[in-house]
Amino acid sequence: MMEVNKIYNEDCLVGLKKLEDNSIDLIITDPPYNIGKDFANDSIDEEEYLKWCKNWISECVRVLKVGGAFYLTLGWQCVAEIKQIFNKEEFMRLKNWIIWYRFDGWKGDKGFAQSHEHILYYIKDNVPPFDLTEFGKHITEKRKEAGYKTVDKLMEDMGLYKLVNRKSGKSGYFSGAGFVESGKKKPTLQEMVKLNKLLELDKKYQIDIKSVDKKKYNVLFNKCDACDDVWLNPKSERKRLGHPTQKPTKLFKRIITVSSNEGDIVLDIFMGSGTTAVSCKELGRNFIGFEVSKDYCEIAKKRLEQNTLTKLNSESISPPKPKGMGIQDGRII
Ligand SMILES: C[S@@+](CC[C@H](N)C(=O)[O-])C[C@H]1O[C@@H](n2cnc3c(N)ncnc32)[C@H](O)[C@@H]1O
Repeated sequence: MMEVNKIYNEDCLVGLKKLEDNSIDLIITDPPYNIGKDFANDSIDEEEYLKWCKNWISECVRVLKVGGAFYLTLGWQCVAEIKQIFNKEEFMRLKNWIIWYRFDGWKGDKGFAQSHEHILYYIKDNVPPFDLTEFGKHITEKRKEAGYKTVDKLMEDMGLYKLVNRKSGKSGYFSGAGFVESGKKKPTLQEMVKLNKLLELDKKYQIDIKSVDKKKYNVLFNKCDACDDVWLNPKSERKRLGHPTQKPTKLFKRIITVSSNEGDIVLDIFMGSGTTAVSCKELGRNFIGFEVSKDYCEIAKKRLEQNTLTKLNSESISPPKPKGMGIQDGRII
């Protein structure tokens, strides 16, 4: 394993090769968006760019632990194409497509100001691909054998779904609509683990939970369910330290807090000015970073030297609570 708490001044594809399979707890990275900024790989032919993205995405998937999360920040320019690349990674599940409203919109071309970025949030959940209709039928059979007359009772015992009262006066299970028995929904690793516990599933549906790090459970199983996927804060970083696209530490600290535990290893393969490293240092996580530019490595090193541990202010890093509609700072919230 590579030494942790270091930023390696090298190409990410070279660095990634030195990492073992399933060795990283969380990946958070902010790649070049291919929009012509003044750093490597930001101004190349689109086909070449996407090919390059595919290479480092597959390497990231390889090094990520089962149950680990992968957050990728992206502009609107290529987010759809990059999601297509992920669609072919069979063990990656899109958990959220987050919109980060960064406030300082750029109003080019007389269109609407471009004020948001995208964050794709994936989990490596290793549920093997199988025929969903067949699986749905199998669950119905096994549920009945286990004495569960209704799906609701099974869902309740799985402990993953909440009974809610709907406006119509009826009650139902929150997020239960797409339950696996319908044959339409691919089960999550979390559901597979619970189903295996409660029903005697066929061998082909048994999950090797030994390969899931127990520490990952409370991360994988959702510290973050309570917040929504549109983030109205923080604003873009104002105090840039020599990097044109420095991200706010508050943004990365939120992600690191909800998707890792203290002592975990966080990887950023496009470290830039070191925002991920500084955030990790403040939150007691280990990091490994790659950055191809020597100058940006120097900036990151200085930031890390200057940064002393700050007390974790949970309020400043917690995800924004949904507010009622209103106007704030001249815009609709
Ligand atoms: C969008 S910036 C990251 C900014 C960073 N999040 C921050 O807050 O400072 C992308 C970075 O990737 C670096 N980069 C581009 N190609 C690379 C490669 N092949 N390997 C490693 N780093 C690379 C660029 O030099 C640039 O600093």
